[in-house]
Parts: sequence; structure tokens; C-alpha cells
Amino acid sequence: MNWEQIYSHAKEWVNDAGAKIRLSFDKTLNIQTKSNANDLVTNMDKEIEQFFISKIREVYPDHKIMGEEGFGDTLGSLDGIVWLIDPIDGTMNFIHQQRNFAISLGVYENGVGKIGLIYDVVHDELYHASRGNGAYLNDKPLVPIKETPVKESIIALNATWVMENHRIDHNLMIPLVRDARGTRSYGSAALEMVFVAAGRVDAYLSMRLSPWDVAAGAVIIEELGGIVTNLRGEHLNFLSQDSLFAAKPGLHQSILKDYLKEGKW
Ligand code: IPD
Ligand code: CA
Ligand code: CA
Repeated sequence: MNWEQIYSHAKEWVNDAGAKIRLSFDKTLNIQTKSNANDLVTNMDKEIEQFFISKIREVYPDHKIMGEEGFGDTLGSLDGIVWLIDPIDGTMNFIHQQRNFAISLGVYENGVGKIGLIYDVVHDELYHASRGNGAYLNDKPLVPIKETPVKESIIALNATWVMENHRIDHNLMIPLVRDARGTRSYGSAALEMVFVAAGRVDAYLSMRLSPWDVAAGAVIIEELGGIVTNLRGEHLNFLSQDSLFAAKPGLHQSILKDYLKEGKW
């Protein structure tokens, strides 16, 4: 398999998709809801996913595709080469703010992450990695992730998880929020993962994400020595929804042991 060629195509297509999104800022978006009134999708989410799919099918007809908007394949396994695509991660931000969203593209082989690209379109910042070859922000290498204690760490998480909710006992999150130096919430799982990779936050956790939200970020973070699991500390399967816990080494172990072990995540 020519991974260098796949990597270079992926970068080219992500750049082209970013240009399409930038052009859409001057046009009126068609906005629809999905599972609930706050679960939004636009014509651009769909167009960008279809753009990637047409490119992949043209050059790599034997590769499989898992895309958030459902134009890809229905997959029962991650056998072979699979592209995991979130055409716009942070759609609510895209609609309301025209910023704080990203394109997320992961390429996996038999369930193992090989390539990850996350493109912050508005800042023209492409975070990318291919397994074993380092991780970059545009052309600049990202430095390996260093350890940080909880009391000096910034943790990205949504306020949902610290108020009463139907997924977890929110009381379990309070000590972590209290002990950390600060918390942040950006509204794009892909960006929150690259912020862990770039050392801008020290950990990111979420109770429920889909494979396309985390596939690219996992490759980039792991390439820099960070740890990506669910909130039980188990490897993700990148096939079904799960919780997510991405963090610096050391910090990952201590948060799991001291704060998360009582939870039924
Ligand atoms: C969402 C964003 C958000 C996360 C949600 C995701 P979308 O993705 O990543 O930050 O909290 O769970 O669904 O729908 O904007 O692609
Ligand atoms: Ca998403
Ligand atoms: Ca999306």
C-alpha cells in the first residue's frame, strides 16, 4: 500500500474542501435538524462529505468509507482500509460563529489508525500525522506531549457533564473540575483533540462521541505520545459510539485512578 500517496491525496482533498467551505461563508446556508432541535446539519456538511467520497471512490475504489452524514458505506467491521470522515466537526459553531469548526479525516487499516488530518479551515491550520512519521501543524513539527499534574492542567469538557444528565452521575466530575487549573469548552471534538496534541489543553473528555469525531485526532495525539481511550481506560474500537478520554501521559493514568474509577461510563 502506498501510504505516502494516500497521505498526499488526503491533504490535497482536505485543502480543496476547506476552500469550498470558505466560499460558502458568503452564501445562505440551508440548515436542517437531525436527532433533535440542537443537532444541526447544513448543505455544506453534506456537500463536503460527498466531495470526499467522490474523490476516494475515484482513486481508491476498494477503500471503505464511514461518514457522519451517511453517504459512505454501512460498516460492520474496520477490515481493510477505511476512511472515517467528519466533513464539518462543530456544525453548531460553523452556523453560529463561522469559526471553531474543523474537517476531520482519519484513514485506518484493519482498525489501526494510519493517517489523521484535522483542518481548522478559518485559521488555515492543518494538523496532520501519519503513523511513525511525526505530527505537524502545517509544515511545523509538533513536539512530543509532556506530563502535567492535575492541578496545573486545563481540561476540555462540555458543561453538560457537570450538570445533572441522563448519562452519568455528574457529581463524579465535580472534584476533577475543582482540582484542575481550568476547564475549556470549544464545541468541536476534533479541535479539542488537536489542542491536546498541541499542548494547549492537557486533557479532553466526553461521555459520547462517534468514530468520525475522534479517528483523526487519535492518530495525531498518539503520534506525539499522548493517550486516547474511553473513560474506562479501554482502547476505542472506532466502530461504535463511546466515551472519550484523551490526555497527556501520566495525567491520563492519574485522572483515571483518582477521579474516574468509580464511574460507570
Ligand atoms: C459534535 C462536536 C461537539 C461534540 C458533539 C459532536 P458535530 O460534532 O464535536 O463538540 O460535543 O458530541 O457530535 O455534530 O458538530 O459534527
Ligand atoms: Ca462531529
Ligand atoms: Ca459533523
